[in-house]
Parts: sequence; structure tokens; C-alpha cells
Amino acid sequence: MAATRRVKKPCCLRTAKQDEFTVLATRSNKLKDFSAGERVFLTTLFARSKRVGKRELKIKNMDNNLYNKAKEFVLDAFAKAGLERDIVHAQSTAYFIKELKPEADETLLIAGLSHDIERAFNGDWKKGTDDPAMLKKHQNLSADEIGKFLLSAGADEKIINRVKRLVSQHEVGGDEDENILCDADCLAFLQDKALRVVTKAKEANNTKEAKRRINMVFSRIHTPKAKQIAQKWYDEAMKELSKKS
Ligand SMILES: [Fe+2]
Ligand SMILES: [Fe+2]
Repeated sequence: MAATRRVKKPCCLRTAKQDEFTVLATRSNKLKDFSAGERVFLTTLFARSKRVGKRELKIKNMDNNLYNKAKEFVLDAFAKAGLERDIVHAQSTAYFIKELKPEADETLLIAGLSHDIERAFNGDWKKGTDDPAMLKKHQNLSADEIGKFLLSAGADEKIINRVKRLVSQHEVGGDEDENILCDADCLAFLQDKALRVVTKAKEANNTKEAKRRINMVFSRIHTPKAKQIAQKWYDEAMKELSKKS
């Protein structure tokens, strides 16, 4: 049985070369065909792939000029900081915004890409925390960074203020679009990072902290659609956590 399952691995990798977004959308289902160790390997492989920097969001009915400039700024900043996983996370978040709200406007998508941008300049100093003061600082620092960039790019004041407002609420949500951004961020974490967090926690013998962090992210989700998408990744992470290493 196990040998039959392993035959699917090259298939998955071939698909990754053909269309990374197809993989992003279906990866978890395919990964169920692999053992826990293989899943971690594949997740890491995707996250580290240089190709992720070349992902293109297929955004219709939009003047992509400002979005593309913002994307270049965000990806470049994370690349210079050596934070390839944040490149994945930024683009996954924008991707999930489109999944949750296909008619999402440019400002919401720019906020999705840039919501954690301060990490490119300050590092992940608040890693996994649920301290409201630290989260607020992280949100505001990111809002300031993308605000400065948009100003330098000649963006309209209304656009700048809206992107900053969205980013400054991304950890907690608020109105409809703030909730969409928060949910997309949670989905990106649960899909891209949760299993890695579990693996590291098991290695460090600290599964309690991993459980707290994953539960915190899952409970932060606002919309039923996002909850439904997240459920399988949450269950998968919890199952891994409950297994003896
Ligand atoms: Fe964040
Ligand atoms: Fe994030």
C-alpha cells in the first residue's frame, strides 16, 4: 500500500512545475498520499523554491500597475532579507483573498501581499505571539512600511489610507475586507506553515506551544468559507501533534 502511494510523488512535483497555483490549491489533498516525513519534505521544498518568486496572480479587471509595483517591492524586500518563506506567505495570502473574495479590489490584494512587510526590515520579533500589544505594533509597522512605499510610488491618498487601514487590522479583522484579509492570512499559515511548526515542536519537545499557536490561528478565522477550507489543514496538524514521534 505504501509503495503504491509513493508512486504519486513525481506526479505532484511535475504539477508544481506546470502550475504552482494548481499545487497551492490542491497540494494538501495530494500530500495526504505521503507519509508525514515526506509531507514535511515536500512542504519545505515548495517553500524554498526559487520559482515562488515568479508566481503571477491572475487578476482580472484591474490596472495591475500599482499592484505589480507593490508586489515587486514586497518580494524584493523579503528576498533581500533572505526570507523566502515570507515570499510564499505573502503570495499565498493574496491568493486566498481571491479565493474568499473573487472580486477583491487592488487595495485588498496589495494589503494581502504586504501585511507582514515589516518582518523584512525587523525580523520575526513577535513570532507566534498572541500578545495584543505586540500584534498591534507588528500591524502598525507593516502599515507604515507599505504606506511609505505607496507614497513613493505616487499612489492616491485614498488608496494609501485604505491599504494602511487593512494592514493595521490584519491580525484581528474588523469589517468585511479586514476579515477577509485576516482569514486569508490564517489560511496561508495553516496551509504553508502549520505542519512545519508541528515538526519543529516535536523536535524541541514542545508540542503544547505548537498546539496553542495553531489553535490561535484557527480560532481567529471569521468566515464560514475560510473555516471550511482551513478545517483539513487544522485537522492534519492536530493529528500530527497527537502522534508519538
Ligand atoms: Fe502578521
Ligand atoms: Fe501573515
